[in-house]
Amino acid sequence: MKRALLLLLMLVLAGAAAARSSDLAGVWLFPKSDEFPGLRLLRLTQGSDGWNGVVTTDWYGDIPMRALEVEGGKASFLIDNGNPRLPPRRWTATADGAALHVAGEIWERHVDARIRRGTPADAQRLAFASAPLPAPATLETDRLAPTPPMGWSSWNRFGAAIDDKTVREIADHLVSSGLRDAGYRFVNIDDGWQGSRGPDGAIHPNARFPDMKALADYVHAKGLKIGIYSSPGPKTCAGFTGSYGHVEQDARTFAAWGFDYLKYDLCSGEGIYRTAADVKRAYLQMGQALRATGRPFVYSLCQYGRDRVGTWGRDVGGHLWRTTGDIEDNYASMAAIGFDKDGDPANAGPGGWNDPDMLEIGNGGMSEDEYRTHMTLWAMLAAPLMLGNDVRTMSPSTIALLENRQVIAIDQDPLGRQGRRIRKDGEAEIWARPLADGSVALALFNRGETAREVRFAPEDVGLKKIASLVDVWAGVPDNEARRTWKVPAHGAVLLRLVP
Ligand code: GLA
Repeated sequence: MKRALLLLLMLVLAGAAAARSSDLAGVWLFPKSDEFPGLRLLRLTQGSDGWNGVVTTDWYGDIPMRALEVEGGKASFLIDNGNPRLPPRRWTATADGAALHVAGEIWERHVDARIRRGTPADAQRLAFASAPLPAPATLETDRLAPTPPMGWSSWNRFGAAIDDKTVREIADHLVSSGLRDAGYRFVNIDDGWQGSRGPDGAIHPNARFPDMKALADYVHAKGLKIGIYSSPGPKTCAGFTGSYGHVEQDARTFAAWGFDYLKYDLCSGEGIYRTAADVKRAYLQMGQALRATGRPFVYSLCQYGRDRVGTWGRDVGGHLWRTTGDIEDNYASMAAIGFDKDGDPANAGPGGWNDPDMLEIGNGGMSEDEYRTHMTLWAMLAAPLMLGNDVRTMSPSTIALLENRQVIAIDQDPLGRQGRRIRKDGEAEIWARPLADGSVALALFNRGETAREVRFAPEDVGLKKIASLVDVWAGVPDNEARRTWKVPAHGAVLLRLVP
Protein backbone atom coordinates (compact mmCIF):
# COMPACT_ATOMS: atom_id res chain seq x y z
CA MET A 1 0.00 0.00 0.00
CA LYS A 2 2.81 2.32 1.02
CA ARG A 3 4.72 1.47 -2.14
CA ALA A 4 1.67 2.15 -4.27
CA LEU A 5 1.30 5.60 -2.71
CA LEU A 6 4.96 6.35 -3.25
CA LEU A 7 4.65 5.31 -6.86
CA LEU A 8 1.64 7.56 -7.30
CA LEU A 9 3.49 10.47 -5.73
CA MET A 10 6.46 9.88 -8.04
CA LEU A 11 4.15 9.81 -11.03
CA VAL A 12 2.49 13.08 -9.98
CA LEU A 13 5.84 14.75 -9.45
CA ALA A 14 7.09 13.49 -12.78
CA GLY A 15 3.94 14.84 -14.39
CA ALA A 16 4.52 18.29 -12.86
CA ALA A 17 8.14 18.28 -13.88
CA ALA A 18 7.06 17.37 -17.35
CA ALA A 19 6.01 21.00 -17.95
CA ARG A 20 9.17 22.37 -19.45
CA SER A 21 10.37 25.94 -19.55
CA SER A 22 10.05 25.88 -23.32
CA ASP A 23 6.30 25.44 -22.81
CA LEU A 24 6.24 29.04 -21.60
CA ALA A 25 7.84 30.62 -24.62
CA GLY A 26 5.66 32.50 -27.07
CA VAL A 27 2.73 34.85 -27.18
CA TRP A 28 -0.19 34.52 -24.77
CA LEU A 29 -3.51 36.33 -25.11
CA PHE A 30 -5.63 37.75 -22.35
CA PRO A 31 -9.35 37.81 -23.03
CA LYS A 32 -10.39 41.30 -24.16
CA SER A 33 -11.33 43.44 -21.18
CA ASP A 34 -11.76 47.11 -20.38
CA GLU A 35 -10.84 46.48 -16.80
CA PHE A 36 -7.67 48.18 -15.53
CA PRO A 37 -4.89 47.77 -16.66
CA GLY A 38 -6.35 46.49 -19.95
CA LEU A 39 -4.27 43.31 -20.18
CA ARG A 40 -3.65 42.34 -23.82
CA LEU A 41 -0.63 40.10 -24.23
CA LEU A 42 2.07 38.32 -22.35
CA ARG A 43 5.21 37.36 -24.21
CA LEU A 44 8.08 35.20 -23.04
CA THR A 45 11.16 34.58 -25.14
CA GLN A 46 14.34 32.67 -24.57
CA GLY A 47 17.35 34.09 -26.33
CA SER A 48 21.09 33.81 -26.04
CA ASP A 49 20.93 36.31 -23.14
CA GLY A 50 18.41 34.18 -21.26
CA TRP A 51 14.71 34.79 -20.72
CA ASN A 52 12.90 38.04 -21.45
CA GLY A 53 9.29 38.92 -21.10
CA VAL A 54 6.76 41.68 -21.37
CA VAL A 55 3.13 42.22 -20.43
CA THR A 56 1.27 44.51 -22.83
CA THR A 57 -1.56 46.62 -21.45
CA ASP A 58 -3.93 49.35 -22.65
CA TRP A 59 -3.06 51.64 -19.74
CA TYR A 60 0.73 51.39 -19.62
CA GLY A 61 1.76 49.90 -22.94
CA ASP A 62 4.54 47.32 -22.66
CA ILE A 63 5.52 46.56 -19.08
CA PRO A 64 8.82 44.68 -19.04
CA MET A 65 9.15 41.71 -16.70
CA ARG A 66 11.90 42.41 -14.23
CA ALA A 67 13.96 39.92 -12.21
CA LEU A 68 12.52 37.19 -14.41
CA GLU A 69 13.27 33.64 -13.30
CA VAL A 70 12.16 30.56 -15.18
CA GLU A 71 12.20 27.11 -13.72
CA GLY A 72 10.47 24.18 -15.29
CA GLY A 73 7.06 25.33 -16.40
CA LYS A 74 6.96 28.38 -14.15
CA ALA A 75 8.09 31.95 -14.68
CA SER A 76 8.29 34.38 -11.80
CA PHE A 77 8.88 38.07 -12.35
CA LEU A 78 8.32 41.59 -11.07
CA ILE A 79 5.81 43.97 -12.64
CA ASP A 80 6.09 47.67 -11.92
CA ASN A 81 3.00 49.47 -10.81
CA GLY A 82 2.07 52.43 -12.95
CA ASN A 83 2.79 54.65 -10.00
CA PRO A 84 6.56 54.69 -9.60
CA ARG A 85 6.07 55.23 -5.88
CA LEU A 86 4.35 51.90 -5.38
CA PRO A 87 6.65 48.90 -5.05
CA PRO A 88 6.74 46.38 -7.90
CA ARG A 89 4.72 43.21 -7.43
CA ARG A 90 5.70 39.58 -7.97
CA TRP A 91 3.78 37.74 -10.69
CA THR A 92 3.87 34.11 -11.77
CA ALA A 93 3.04 32.50 -15.09
CA THR A 94 2.70 28.73 -14.96
CA ALA A 95 2.25 26.33 -17.84
CA ASP A 96 -1.08 24.61 -17.29
CA GLY A 97 -1.81 22.13 -20.04
CA ALA A 98 -2.33 24.16 -23.20
CA ALA A 99 -2.94 27.32 -21.17
CA LEU A 100 -0.88 29.68 -19.06
CA HIS A 101 -1.96 30.46 -15.54
CA VAL A 102 -1.06 34.08 -14.74
CA ALA A 103 -1.32 35.46 -11.22
CA GLY A 104 -0.22 38.75 -9.76
CA GLU A 105 -1.24 42.26 -8.81
CA ILE A 106 -1.08 45.75 -10.19
CA TRP A 107 -2.38 48.62 -8.08
CA GLU A 108 -5.45 47.18 -6.37
CA ARG A 109 -6.20 44.82 -9.24
CA HIS A 110 -5.68 41.15 -8.58
CA VAL A 111 -4.98 39.21 -11.76
CA ASP A 112 -5.68 35.50 -11.84
CA ALA A 113 -6.28 34.24 -15.35
CA ARG A 114 -5.81 31.17 -17.51
CA ILE A 115 -4.86 32.50 -20.91
CA ARG A 116 -4.41 30.85 -24.27
CA ARG A 117 -1.64 30.78 -26.78
CA GLY A 118 -1.67 33.36 -29.57
CA THR A 119 -0.01 33.60 -32.95
CA PRO A 120 2.55 36.08 -34.24
CA ALA A 121 -0.35 37.72 -36.08
CA ASP A 122 -2.13 38.23 -32.74
CA ALA A 123 1.03 39.74 -31.34
CA GLN A 124 1.16 42.18 -34.21
CA ARG A 125 -2.49 43.09 -34.01
CA LEU A 126 -2.39 43.71 -30.27
CA ALA A 127 1.05 45.34 -30.08
CA PHE A 128 1.17 48.68 -28.29
CA ALA A 129 2.20 51.38 -30.75
CA SER A 130 4.62 53.59 -28.90
CA ALA A 131 4.69 57.28 -29.73
CA PRO A 132 7.77 59.52 -29.77
CA LEU A 133 8.36 62.51 -27.50
CA PRO A 134 9.75 65.87 -28.65
CA ALA A 135 13.28 66.98 -27.88
CA PRO A 136 13.56 69.09 -24.72
CA ALA A 137 12.75 72.74 -25.35
CA THR A 138 11.60 75.82 -23.46
CA LEU A 139 8.47 77.64 -24.54
CA GLU A 140 8.22 81.42 -24.46
CA THR A 141 6.04 82.73 -21.68
CA ASP A 142 2.74 84.32 -22.62
CA ARG A 143 0.25 86.59 -20.89
CA LEU A 144 -2.63 84.21 -20.41
CA ALA A 145 -2.57 83.93 -16.62
CA PRO A 146 -1.41 87.22 -15.07
CA THR A 147 -3.40 86.22 -11.96
CA PRO A 148 -4.47 82.75 -10.82
CA PRO A 149 -7.17 81.33 -13.13
CA MET A 150 -10.68 81.24 -11.68
CA GLY A 151 -13.68 79.19 -12.69
CA TRP A 152 -15.57 75.99 -12.05
CA SER A 153 -14.69 72.36 -12.68
CA SER A 154 -16.97 69.36 -12.87
CA TRP A 155 -14.82 66.83 -11.05
CA ASN A 156 -15.20 67.38 -7.30
CA ARG A 157 -18.98 67.37 -7.37
CA PHE A 158 -19.92 65.30 -10.43
CA GLY A 159 -16.99 62.97 -11.06
CA ALA A 160 -17.25 61.28 -14.43
CA ALA A 161 -21.07 61.61 -14.41
CA ILE A 162 -21.05 64.95 -16.20
CA ASP A 163 -23.09 65.89 -19.25
CA ASP A 164 -23.85 68.71 -21.66
CA LYS A 165 -27.05 69.75 -19.91
CA THR A 166 -25.38 70.09 -16.51
CA VAL A 167 -22.51 72.10 -17.96
CA ARG A 168 -24.98 74.51 -19.61
CA GLU A 169 -26.94 74.90 -16.39
CA ILE A 170 -23.75 75.53 -14.46
CA ALA A 171 -22.85 78.26 -16.96
CA ASP A 172 -26.31 79.79 -16.52
CA HIS A 173 -25.96 79.82 -12.76
CA LEU A 174 -22.43 81.19 -12.77
CA VAL A 175 -23.99 84.21 -14.43
CA SER A 176 -27.21 84.47 -12.41
CA SER A 177 -25.47 83.94 -9.05
CA GLY A 178 -22.96 86.71 -9.75
CA LEU A 179 -20.02 84.30 -9.62
CA ARG A 180 -18.98 85.10 -13.18
CA ASP A 181 -18.83 88.78 -12.36
CA ALA A 182 -16.89 88.01 -9.21
CA GLY A 183 -14.19 86.54 -11.49
CA TYR A 184 -15.04 82.87 -12.00
CA ARG A 185 -14.70 82.68 -15.77
CA PHE A 186 -13.77 79.13 -16.79
CA VAL A 187 -16.31 76.34 -17.05
CA ASN A 188 -14.12 73.26 -17.08
CA ILE A 189 -15.23 69.80 -18.09
CA ASP A 190 -12.97 67.38 -16.26
CA ASP A 191 -12.69 63.63 -16.87
CA GLY A 192 -15.67 61.77 -18.32
CA TRP A 193 -16.56 63.53 -21.59
CA GLN A 194 -14.58 61.24 -23.88
CA GLY A 195 -15.91 58.63 -26.24
CA SER A 196 -13.72 56.74 -28.68
CA ARG A 197 -11.61 57.64 -31.70
CA GLY A 198 -12.88 57.51 -35.24
CA PRO A 199 -11.06 55.73 -38.09
CA ASP A 200 -9.06 58.92 -38.72
CA GLY A 201 -7.93 58.91 -35.08
CA ALA A 202 -10.02 61.94 -34.13
CA ILE A 203 -11.46 61.76 -30.64
CA HIS A 204 -15.23 61.97 -30.21
CA PRO A 205 -17.14 62.87 -27.09
CA ASN A 206 -19.41 60.25 -25.58
CA ALA A 207 -23.19 60.28 -25.84
CA ARG A 208 -23.54 62.65 -22.88
CA PHE A 209 -21.93 65.39 -25.00
CA PRO A 210 -23.74 65.45 -28.33
CA ASP A 211 -22.01 68.53 -29.73
CA MET A 212 -18.91 70.01 -28.15
CA LYS A 213 -18.73 72.97 -30.51
CA ALA A 214 -22.33 73.93 -29.74
CA LEU A 215 -21.61 73.60 -26.02
CA ALA A 216 -18.55 75.83 -26.28
CA ASP A 217 -20.58 78.39 -28.24
CA TYR A 218 -23.25 78.34 -25.55
CA VAL A 219 -20.74 78.90 -22.76
CA HIS A 220 -18.97 81.66 -24.70
CA ALA A 221 -22.27 83.43 -25.33
CA LYS A 222 -22.60 83.76 -21.54
CA GLY A 223 -19.35 85.69 -21.33
CA LEU A 224 -17.54 82.66 -19.99
CA LYS A 225 -14.67 80.50 -21.18
CA ILE A 226 -14.64 76.74 -21.44
CA GLY A 227 -12.10 74.09 -20.50
CA ILE A 228 -11.52 70.43 -21.32
CA TYR A 229 -9.46 67.57 -19.92
CA SER A 230 -7.10 64.91 -21.21
CA SER A 231 -4.06 62.83 -20.32
CA PRO A 232 -0.66 62.23 -21.92
CA GLY A 233 -1.28 58.54 -21.27
CA PRO A 234 -3.49 56.18 -23.28
CA LYS A 235 -6.12 56.28 -20.51
CA THR A 236 -7.30 59.00 -18.17
CA CYS A 237 -7.58 58.44 -14.45
CA ALA A 238 -11.22 57.42 -14.77
CA GLY A 239 -10.34 55.05 -17.64
CA PHE A 240 -11.43 57.21 -20.58
CA THR A 241 -9.47 57.71 -23.80
CA GLY A 242 -6.29 59.75 -23.29
CA SER A 243 -4.21 61.65 -25.84
CA TYR A 244 -1.31 59.19 -26.12
CA GLY A 245 -0.24 58.96 -29.76
CA HIS A 246 -2.74 61.69 -30.73
CA VAL A 247 -1.41 64.73 -28.93
CA GLU A 248 -1.28 67.17 -31.83
CA GLN A 249 -4.51 65.88 -33.28
CA ASP A 250 -6.34 66.29 -29.97
CA ALA A 251 -5.01 69.81 -29.49
CA ARG A 252 -6.38 70.71 -32.93
CA THR A 253 -9.71 69.10 -32.07
CA PHE A 254 -10.00 71.02 -28.79
CA ALA A 255 -9.15 74.24 -30.64
CA ALA A 256 -11.69 73.53 -33.38
CA TRP A 257 -14.39 72.92 -30.77
CA GLY A 258 -13.53 76.31 -29.27
CA PHE A 259 -11.97 75.36 -25.95
CA ASP A 260 -9.87 77.86 -24.01
CA TYR A 261 -8.32 75.71 -21.28
CA LEU A 262 -6.87 72.23 -20.99
CA LYS A 263 -6.18 70.24 -17.84
CA TYR A 264 -3.64 67.56 -18.73
CA ASP A 265 -3.59 64.81 -16.15
CA LEU A 266 -0.72 62.31 -16.01
CA CYS A 267 -2.86 59.26 -15.05
CA SER A 268 -1.75 56.21 -17.05
CA GLY A 269 1.12 58.28 -18.47
CA GLU A 270 2.92 57.64 -15.20
CA GLY A 271 3.38 54.01 -16.23
CA ILE A 272 4.84 55.03 -19.57
CA TYR A 273 6.85 58.11 -18.74
CA ARG A 274 8.92 56.80 -15.90
CA THR A 275 11.54 59.51 -15.54
CA ALA A 276 11.10 63.15 -14.62
CA ALA A 277 12.68 64.10 -17.94
CA ASP A 278 10.13 62.07 -19.91
CA VAL A 279 7.19 63.40 -17.92
CA LYS A 280 8.41 66.90 -18.67
CA ARG A 281 8.71 66.12 -22.38
CA ALA A 282 5.21 64.65 -22.39
CA TYR A 283 3.87 67.93 -20.97
CA LEU A 284 6.01 69.90 -23.39
CA GLN A 285 4.53 67.93 -26.28
CA MET A 286 1.02 69.08 -25.44
CA GLY A 287 2.27 72.58 -24.61
CA GLN A 288 3.76 72.82 -28.10
CA ALA A 289 0.68 71.28 -29.67
CA LEU A 290 -1.62 73.82 -27.98
CA ARG A 291 0.59 76.70 -29.11
CA ALA A 292 0.64 75.31 -32.64
CA THR A 293 -3.15 75.57 -32.85
CA GLY A 294 -2.88 79.35 -32.68
CA ARG A 295 -5.73 79.44 -30.17
CA PRO A 296 -4.93 80.69 -26.67
CA PHE A 297 -5.22 77.87 -24.13
CA VAL A 298 -4.68 78.14 -20.42
CA TYR A 299 -2.70 74.98 -19.75
CA SER A 300 -3.15 73.22 -16.42
CA LEU A 301 -0.58 70.55 -15.54
CA CYS A 302 -1.73 67.78 -13.26
CA GLN A 303 0.99 65.34 -12.26
CA TYR A 304 0.37 65.63 -8.53
CA GLY A 305 3.30 67.93 -7.78
CA ARG A 306 6.02 65.41 -8.56
CA ASP A 307 9.49 66.12 -9.87
CA ARG A 308 9.51 69.73 -8.61
CA VAL A 309 7.04 70.67 -11.34
CA GLY A 310 6.99 74.28 -10.15
CA THR A 311 10.53 74.72 -11.41
CA TRP A 312 9.66 73.69 -14.99
CA GLY A 313 5.89 74.11 -15.37
CA ARG A 314 6.27 77.42 -17.19
CA ASP A 315 8.92 76.04 -19.53
CA VAL A 316 6.47 73.52 -21.00
CA GLY A 317 3.81 76.20 -21.45
CA GLY A 318 1.96 75.57 -18.17
CA HIS A 319 0.02 78.32 -16.40
CA LEU A 320 -0.79 76.29 -13.29
CA TRP A 321 0.50 73.01 -11.95
CA ARG A 322 -0.93 70.81 -9.25
CA THR A 323 1.18 70.56 -6.12
CA THR A 324 -0.52 67.51 -4.65
CA GLY A 325 -2.73 64.47 -5.06
CA ASP A 326 -6.50 64.91 -5.00
CA ILE A 327 -8.28 67.02 -2.45
CA GLU A 328 -11.20 65.47 -0.59
CA ASP A 329 -14.16 67.20 0.95
CA ASN A 330 -12.97 66.98 4.55
CA TYR A 331 -10.92 69.20 6.83
CA ALA A 332 -7.99 66.78 7.22
CA SER A 333 -7.46 66.54 3.46
CA MET A 334 -7.93 70.25 2.77
CA ALA A 335 -5.68 71.28 5.68
CA ALA A 336 -2.95 68.78 4.80
CA ILE A 337 -2.78 70.24 1.31
CA GLY A 338 -3.36 73.91 2.04
CA PHE A 339 -1.00 74.19 4.96
CA ASP A 340 1.72 71.85 3.84
CA LYS A 341 1.52 70.69 0.21
CA ASP A 342 0.91 74.04 -1.41
CA GLY A 343 4.05 74.36 -3.52
CA ASP A 344 7.13 76.54 -3.23
CA PRO A 345 6.15 80.24 -3.27
CA ALA A 346 9.33 80.97 -5.21
CA ASN A 347 7.82 79.31 -8.28
CA ALA A 348 4.50 81.15 -8.28
CA GLY A 349 3.80 84.53 -9.81
CA PRO A 350 2.20 86.24 -12.80
CA GLY A 351 2.03 83.69 -15.61
CA GLY A 352 2.36 80.50 -13.55
CA TRP A 353 0.76 79.30 -10.31
CA ASN A 354 1.00 76.54 -7.77
CA ASP A 355 -2.32 74.68 -7.80
CA PRO A 356 -3.27 73.01 -4.51
CA ASP A 357 -6.36 71.57 -6.26
CA MET A 358 -9.94 72.66 -6.74
CA LEU A 359 -12.28 74.01 -4.10
CA GLU A 360 -14.62 71.80 -2.09
CA ILE A 361 -16.61 74.70 -0.65
CA GLY A 362 -20.31 73.95 -0.83
CA ASN A 363 -20.01 70.18 -1.16
CA GLY A 364 -21.12 69.55 2.40
CA GLY A 365 -18.18 67.72 3.97
CA MET A 366 -16.85 70.62 6.06
CA SER A 367 -18.27 73.11 8.51
CA GLU A 368 -18.67 76.76 7.56
CA ASP A 369 -15.57 77.64 9.60
CA GLU A 370 -13.60 74.93 7.82
CA TYR A 371 -14.72 76.16 4.43
CA ARG A 372 -13.77 79.69 5.49
CA THR A 373 -10.30 78.35 6.26
CA HIS A 374 -10.26 76.68 2.81
CA MET A 375 -11.11 79.92 1.01
CA THR A 376 -8.82 82.04 3.19
CA LEU A 377 -5.90 79.71 2.69
CA TRP A 378 -6.38 79.45 -1.08
CA ALA A 379 -6.54 83.26 -1.32
CA MET A 380 -3.36 83.57 0.77
CA LEU A 381 -1.67 81.01 -1.50
CA ALA A 382 -2.52 82.88 -4.72
CA ALA A 383 -4.12 79.58 -5.68
CA PRO A 384 -6.27 79.10 -8.78
CA LEU A 385 -9.89 79.25 -7.59
CA MET A 386 -11.83 76.50 -9.31
CA LEU A 387 -15.24 76.01 -7.79
CA GLY A 388 -15.94 72.33 -7.22
CA ASN A 389 -19.56 72.47 -6.13
CA ASP A 390 -22.96 72.46 -7.78
CA VAL A 391 -23.52 76.18 -8.32
CA ARG A 392 -27.16 75.50 -9.22
CA THR A 393 -27.97 74.82 -5.58
CA MET A 394 -25.88 76.97 -3.26
CA SER A 395 -26.74 77.99 0.27
CA PRO A 396 -26.40 81.69 1.13
CA SER A 397 -23.34 80.87 3.25
CA THR A 398 -21.65 79.10 0.32
CA ILE A 399 -22.32 82.10 -1.91
CA ALA A 400 -20.97 84.41 0.77
CA LEU A 401 -17.75 82.39 1.05
CA LEU A 402 -17.21 82.15 -2.69
CA GLU A 403 -18.22 85.64 -3.72
CA ASN A 404 -16.52 87.84 -1.16
CA ARG A 405 -14.88 90.44 -3.39
CA GLN A 406 -12.26 91.46 -0.85
CA VAL A 407 -11.11 87.87 -0.40
CA ILE A 408 -11.04 87.34 -4.15
CA ALA A 409 -9.05 90.56 -4.52
CA ILE A 410 -6.38 89.10 -2.25
CA ASP A 411 -6.26 85.89 -4.28
CA GLN A 412 -6.08 87.91 -7.50
CA ASP A 413 -3.65 90.52 -6.25
CA PRO A 414 -1.58 91.63 -9.27
CA LEU A 415 1.74 91.39 -7.44
CA GLY A 416 1.16 87.64 -7.48
CA ARG A 417 3.27 86.79 -4.45
CA GLN A 418 2.22 83.58 -2.78
CA GLY A 419 1.70 83.93 0.98
CA ARG A 420 3.74 82.05 3.54
CA ARG A 421 3.46 80.81 7.07
CA ILE A 422 5.34 83.26 9.26
CA ARG A 423 4.61 81.82 12.67
CA LYS A 424 3.32 78.61 14.13
CA ASP A 425 2.37 78.40 17.75
CA GLY A 426 1.00 74.95 18.43
CA GLU A 427 -2.24 74.81 16.50
CA ALA A 428 -2.27 78.51 15.71
CA GLU A 429 -0.67 79.67 12.49
CA ILE A 430 -0.09 83.12 11.08
CA TRP A 431 0.35 83.53 7.36
CA ALA A 432 1.25 86.71 5.48
CA ARG A 433 1.04 87.77 1.89
CA PRO A 434 2.40 91.08 0.55
CA LEU A 435 0.04 92.87 -1.82
CA ALA A 436 0.59 95.20 -4.74
CA ASP A 437 -0.56 98.36 -2.94
CA GLY A 438 1.93 97.88 -0.11
CA SER A 439 -0.61 96.42 2.27
CA VAL A 440 -0.29 92.96 3.75
CA ALA A 441 -2.86 90.19 3.93
CA LEU A 442 -2.56 88.44 7.26
CA ALA A 443 -4.40 85.23 8.04
CA LEU A 444 -4.83 83.85 11.55
CA PHE A 445 -5.63 80.15 11.52
CA ASN A 446 -6.68 77.85 14.30
CA ARG A 447 -6.05 74.22 13.42
CA GLY A 448 -7.17 73.05 16.84
CA GLU A 449 -10.42 71.52 17.97
CA THR A 450 -11.43 74.40 20.27
CA ALA A 451 -11.66 78.14 19.77
CA ARG A 452 -8.57 80.09 20.83
CA GLU A 453 -7.10 83.54 20.79
CA VAL A 454 -4.46 84.24 18.18
CA ARG A 455 -2.22 87.24 18.55
CA PHE A 456 0.08 88.85 16.01
CA ALA A 457 2.67 91.58 16.22
CA PRO A 458 3.34 94.10 13.44
CA GLU A 459 6.96 92.90 13.42
CA ASP A 460 5.65 89.48 12.36
CA VAL A 461 5.05 90.99 8.94
CA GLY A 462 7.94 93.41 8.96
CA LEU A 463 5.71 96.43 9.63
CA LYS A 464 6.73 99.11 12.12
CA LYS A 465 3.30 100.63 12.30
CA ILE A 466 -0.17 99.77 11.14
CA ALA A 467 -2.19 102.74 9.90
CA SER A 468 -5.39 100.85 9.28
CA LEU A 469 -6.71 97.38 9.47
CA VAL A 470 -9.66 95.64 7.81
CA ASP A 471 -11.31 92.45 8.96
CA VAL A 472 -11.79 91.11 5.45
CA TRP A 473 -14.50 88.50 6.08
CA ALA A 474 -16.46 90.92 8.24
CA GLY A 475 -15.91 93.53 5.55
CA VAL A 476 -15.33 96.30 8.07
CA PRO A 477 -12.37 98.29 9.34
CA ASP A 478 -11.31 97.33 12.84
CA ASN A 479 -9.27 99.15 15.45
CA GLU A 480 -5.75 99.38 14.02
CA ALA A 481 -4.32 98.76 17.48
CA ARG A 482 -6.11 95.44 17.86
CA ARG A 483 -3.68 92.50 17.97
CA THR A 484 -5.73 89.59 19.26
CA TRP A 485 -8.56 87.71 17.59
CA LYS A 486 -10.63 84.85 18.77
CA VAL A 487 -10.49 82.19 16.05
CA PRO A 488 -13.01 79.34 16.07
CA ALA A 489 -11.93 75.70 15.91
CA HIS A 490 -10.62 74.90 12.41
CA GLY A 491 -11.40 78.52 11.56
CA ALA A 492 -9.64 81.56 10.16
CA VAL A 493 -9.57 85.34 10.43
CA LEU A 494 -8.33 87.32 7.44
CA LEU A 495 -6.98 90.84 7.89
CA ARG A 496 -5.68 93.43 5.48
CA LEU A 497 -3.08 95.64 7.13
CA VAL A 498 -2.16 98.99 5.66
CA PRO A 499 1.19 100.28 6.88
C1 GLA B 1 -7.09 62.75 -11.13
C2 GLA B 1 -6.99 64.25 -10.90
C3 GLA B 1 -8.35 64.76 -10.47
C4 GLA B 1 -9.38 64.44 -11.54
C5 GLA B 1 -9.39 62.96 -11.80
C6 GLA B 1 -10.25 62.60 -13.00
O1 GLA B 1 -7.33 62.05 -9.95
O2 GLA B 1 -6.02 64.54 -9.93
O3 GLA B 1 -8.30 66.16 -10.27
O4 GLA B 1 -9.07 65.16 -12.71
O5 GLA B 1 -8.10 62.47 -12.07
O6 GLA B 1 -10.26 61.24 -13.25
